[in-house]
Parts: sequence; structure tokens; C-alpha cells
Amino acid sequence: MTQDELKTLVGQAALNYVTPGSIVGVGTGSTVDKFIDALAASGMTIAGAVSSSVRSTERMKALGIRVLEASEVTSLPVYIDGADEIDHQGHMVKGGGAALTREKIVADLAERFVCIADESKLVEVLGRFPLPVEVIPMAAAQIARRFAAMGGDAQLRAGCITDNGCHILDVRGLQIRDPQAFERDVNQWPGVVTVGVFARNKAAVCLLGTASGVRTLTY
Ligand code: A5P
Repeated sequence: MTQDELKTLVGQAALNYVTPGSIVGVGTGSTVDKFIDALAASGMTIAGAVSSSVRSTERMKALGIRVLEASEVTSLPVYIDGADEIDHQGHMVKGGGAALTREKIVADLAERFVCIADESKLVEVLGRFPLPVEVIPMAAAQIARRFAAMGGDAQLRAGCITDNGCHILDVRGLQIRDPQAFERDVNQWPGVVTVGVFARNKAAVCLLGTASGVRTLTY
């Protein structure tokens, strides 16, 4: 199976985690696009969706799915999103699509994070994928120096302005062995909007697309 077919498989499988009539949290990325398409094609009626990006909002609206503001809901039963990396404890690196801040906000509203990913995303230690960090532009150079001091090479993502009007640093060369401590510490640095480690808001379930079908990992 191609990577695209694996994404289609898990996008479809995620429908099993959606309760008809509920409001669903929806992430961002090519795998989530497959979920949105499957949801629209399923004919299932939901009360609406809370979206983590302009990209997903536009896709859902075009398919007739009602999109609500995060401020209109107090909680969500489930948040469905992809990941750039996921480890065996459900910790993730996210933000390859630059939507990490809104993703973390919507994930925080949800009772359960269901991650959908192809098997290439499963890692032993987070850090192989360059870690996205959304930053206030005037702090970018100082934050890059802080990462250099811990062995990371932070580069500004060229031409990228987030939905929040900020910049993204992509940090290579890190081995994130304690995701919870790392997330907590980096989030304290002045000018960091969101670090792309999702440890506090980790996955409860991962639907992993493999050549032999969907593997369900629970944490
Ligand atoms: C978006 O900002 C990211 O967090 C995505 O969830 C992540 O990049 C996964 O994207 P794909 O499904 O396109 O691999």
C-alpha cells in the first residue's frame, strides 16, 4: 500500500470514534484531509466540528460540515488529528503543517485525542522529525540560541506565517527523551507561543496504518 492509501485507511477508521450528533475536534494535515472526506462521504450527521486551521475549516465547509468556534464549546468528546511523530507512550511531535498552536488548543478541549498516522510516524525517541516551534518573531534569534545550547539547530521556516501571525522555527538534532519535561520547560521561554511536543495533550489512541491493516495502539 502507498502512504496515501495508508492515510485513507486510518482516516476511514477514525469514523468509529465519532459519535453521531456530537461535536468533533478536527486537526490538520493530509491524513486529516482523508478523515474529513470520509466523514462527509459517510452521511453521518454530527452537530458540527471545531477546526484547528483555516485549511481544515475551508475543506469542511466546502463539504457541508458545520464549523464552530472553539469559544462556542466547553468540551469535545474526541479530537482527531495526525502527527509528524508518535512514540510508544502516545507523545507526539506536531506542527509540520504550522497549525500546532490551534491544534493544541482544540486538543486541550477534548476528552480523548485519537491520532491517525501511517506507520512511518512511529518512533522510539522523538526528535527525528525537525521539531516545529511557533514563536513571536522578535524572539526567534534568542530562542534559536537557547536550542543551540542544548544541541539543536533551529532554522526559521522560510515564508511561513502561521494562522496566528507568528513564525515557525524547525529544530534539528534533538533527542527528546523526557517529552513532558521538555514541553513544560520550552513553553516557559519568553517568545515561545507553542512547542510542537504534545506530551500533556498526548494521544489516548493511535490508529496506525500498516501494510496489514490498521493497528490500534492505546495509551
Ligand atoms: C499540522 O500542523 C501537523 O501537526 C500535522 O498533524 C502533521 O504534520 C501531520 O500531517 P500529515 O497528516 O500531512 O502527515
